[in-house]
Amino acid sequence: MKNLLRKKSIDDLLHKKGSIQLQKTMGPFDLMLLGVGAIVGTGIFILPGTVSAQHAGPGIVFSFIIAAIVCALAALCYSEFASTVPVTGSAYSYSYIVFGEIVAWFVGWALLLEYGLATAAVATGWSGYFVTLVEGFGIHLPAALTNSFSVENGTYINLPAVIIIFVIGSLLSLGMKESTRFNAILVALKIGAVLLFILVGVFYVKPENWSPFLPYGMSGVFTGAALVFFAYLGFDAVSSAAEEVKNPQRNMPIGIIGSLIICTILYVAVSLVLTGIVPYQQLNVADPVAFAMKFVEQDWVAGIISLSAVIGMLTVILVMMYGGTRLLMAFARDGLMPKVMKELHPKRKTPMKNTFIFTMIISIFAGFIPLGTLAEMVNMGTLIAFIFVSAGIIYLRKNKDLPNGGFKVPFYPILPIVSVLLCIFLISQLSAHTWIACGIWFVLGIIIYFIYGKRHSALNK
Ligand code: ALA
Repeated sequence: MKNLLRKKSIDDLLHKKGSIQLQKTMGPFDLMLLGVGAIVGTGIFILPGTVSAQHAGPGIVFSFIIAAIVCALAALCYSEFASTVPVTGSAYSYSYIVFGEIVAWFVGWALLLEYGLATAAVATGWSGYFVTLVEGFGIHLPAALTNSFSVENGTYINLPAVIIIFVIGSLLSLGMKESTRFNAILVALKIGAVLLFILVGVFYVKPENWSPFLPYGMSGVFTGAALVFFAYLGFDAVSSAAEEVKNPQRNMPIGIIGSLIICTILYVAVSLVLTGIVPYQQLNVADPVAFAMKFVEQDWVAGIISLSAVIGMLTVILVMMYGGTRLLMAFARDGLMPKVMKELHPKRKTPMKNTFIFTMIISIFAGFIPLGTLAEMVNMGTLIAFIFVSAGIIYLRKNKDLPNGGFKVPFYPILPIVSVLLCIFLISQLSAHTWIACGIWFVLGIIIYFIYGKRHSALNK
């Protein structure tokens, strides 16, 4: 029992002797760029359409606001951790410090679900925009090969999604020196697409499309919130950069909260404009934002948006895959997974083998499972991580050996407690099949821990 709850000492983590120290180069602006790059993706280009059509109507605006509040509370907790113990590994490392090994493994396993399936989900969404984009050029890809497996619809596999995962996986294993500049350009492109949509769309809004505003009542809004939550994911990736940030005490909170605020404003505006242009019942399509522009006969704008979305979404796939492979590396470094997961390619210095394994597995999910199902499971994994990070603040504050003077969550201990409760509430809004699928995932994780991790943990020494 004691072994299960053994903890890592913060001193070890912060002043690892003999380990490579990452260079501290990032400021608050770089962090926000990283955050927005990781956040804005499939979510905003697809969910406002599908979720308003099926669950929330124009009330999707409230869904986005509620999801933003849940994220903001968790983000404050992440900020306190990231500024007090600026180590890489995000919620996994934090849990290793405050709760001990088995909880850390559980949270890490949840994060693996988040990163892995988010990669698959974004690739699936990307495929939707890609298909309509090439259609604009007169190329019709067969539906059977561009949709997830479904006997009813006669579709087999989402090939574009599988292919893009392999492309990005290869890029990652080559190592990307230019990645930050590349990231900045792509971020500008997708924010440009979102702003273009808002600025053009606002002229076509018909307020009568907003009534009734809540066709499915508040319960539809809450279900919607649990679904669009997906659109905000990625801000926790900012906390992973903690070891490379100048003055993390000050800059981490600015980076995390700043990127969240920017995204909330964009998302609310997009949802208002989108449901104002097109009656919400008609928005259940694979590319709602471009669809709305075609609806008002702005085909050119639709084309530009699709193109920017197709290119811009790549950053999210890249960040999520990066997060997943680095998490596997962290597991292996701690002895919780086999050594092959941390082996670096001698020349390229990237974990090529683990990237390959990760790519193979994720591409199967992307090929056969629909976006909605993937997104729900991602949300479940993330909400679980949020719960532990929020609850972890209470344990963190009790630890008197920690460096002082970093960012502190306001209204302690109410805020972390409310954060935990809100996450539980959103989890309760997810569907039963998501619960079952995730249940299986976690049982598998616990079995792996007892068969492998517990015996090989680096803390055994
Ligand atoms: N927030 C990311 C997206 O919407 C996962 O694509």
